Amino acid sequence: MTLRVLTGIKPTGTPHLGNYVGAIRPAIAASRDAGIDSYYFLADYHALSGSADAERVHRSTLEVAATWLAAGLDPKRVHFYRQSDIPEVTELTWLLSCVTAKGLLNRAHAYKAAVDANVAAGHDPDHAVGMGLYLYPVLMAADILLFNAHRVPVGRDQIQHIEIARDLAQRFNHLHGGEYFTLPEAAIDEQTAVLPGTDGRKMSKSYDNVIPLWGSSKALRDAIFGVVTNSQVPGEPKDPEQSSLFLIYQAFASVEESQAMRRAYAEGIAWGEAKRIVHARLDAELAPMRERYNALVARPQDIEDTLRAGAERLRPQARELLASLREAVGLRSLATLARAPARKKPAKKDRLPRFVQFKDADGRLNFKFLAADGDLLLTGLGYPDARASAGAMAALRAATAFAGDGGVLLHEGQAIGTLPETGEPALDRLTAALNELNAAEFE
Ligand code: TRP
Repeated sequence: MTLRVLTGIKPTGTPHLGNYVGAIRPAIAASRDAGIDSYYFLADYHALSGSADAERVHRSTLEVAATWLAAGLDPKRVHFYRQSDIPEVTELTWLLSCVTAKGLLNRAHAYKAAVDANVAAGHDPDHAVGMGLYLYPVLMAADILLFNAHRVPVGRDQIQHIEIARDLAQRFNHLHGGEYFTLPEAAIDEQTAVLPGTDGRKMSKSYDNVIPLWGSSKALRDAIFGVVTNSQVPGEPKDPEQSSLFLIYQAFASVEESQAMRRAYAEGIAWGEAKRIVHARLDAELAPMRERYNALVARPQDIEDTLRAGAERLRPQARELLASLREAVGLRSLATLARAPARKKPAKKDRLPRFVQFKDADGRLNFKFLAADGDLLLTGLGYPDARASAGAMAALRAATAFAGDGGVLLHEGQAIGTLPETGEPALDRLTAALNELNAAEFE
């Protein structure tokens, strides 16, 4: 069976050199692998969750699509489409939402970060948080599950989203007693270089240190001459490892070219001369692409046609899956009701994570929270009465952002229990058990 690899590209802003080296170029190289069925799409529904700027979404969609095509993505070999051209994505989002425990999304990183920032600023926790942000992971799960992708290449910040997609796939399969969805896996590229920006920090729009990808050759030259170097003079040997200029060069140069540049550094090349060589090398790779990019952007109708054709090619598959899902959840033709045999309910899981109450040696009421296999995950702090103990258990169930400090579990700065061990794994196990409990309540 062919491996299906899928990834979404959020059309926000104009891609820069760091995006090209870190994401676009490796993804296009991977798309040429004959044994792989690749899906690349513009996640324009996702772009709406952070912005009400219609012009920006519109413009970015054109620029990002043109960038991928100019950089060599071949829409005849890969599925290249726009998310919003496949309305089955939104229908699937709803079906998945209905098997999503709210508690699971309460613990999603991006939402939690927004809540934490609000609490820190003294606002209401959900201040300015929209459902677009909250449901973002479910929409993303729909993108992935709609085409039953096996592998999803993403950055580290997206790993939790893939875990949520797996979780929802599993939940749906289990609740409806079938193998409707394949469980996707995140693929993290550890190799790809993080390109430094003109100031030496990671190249990023938020640092305002980017080198534009699609400016003129002169604009590229100006940006490269703006890369910060030290005050070493010509003739002084220079250290390539400490030089963002060298790292930028290396991202484009062959091994031999990089070696030659190392020698030039050792021999004390002048910064101006090094910059001239870097510009020439980058321009050699970018100039033909720049020409294609400008030609593509000048003919937006052609890009529109390419994206539409990409979506049309996939929609029969999407419709077919949705038909089986509608059937599974009970959105069925009424004509079949009389003869359909009653479906068996899937068997209940026998064990779940659970709370156990007990009396401390000093007579106080306390609780333990145990994993499904009986492992201790958390012990309460000891309470004067049943009400206080129940309140503490409820607080744990509702907690979204907790932290471990030594062996103490903190929620919003307050201790709420003691962990059996220190470190991340104990927190991860606790979170997984809380998610499992939320999930079980759907049955
Ligand atoms: N959330 C991803 C990002 O911000 C973009 C995205 C949307 C995506 N849907 C996806 C990535 C599906 C992989 C698979 O980068």
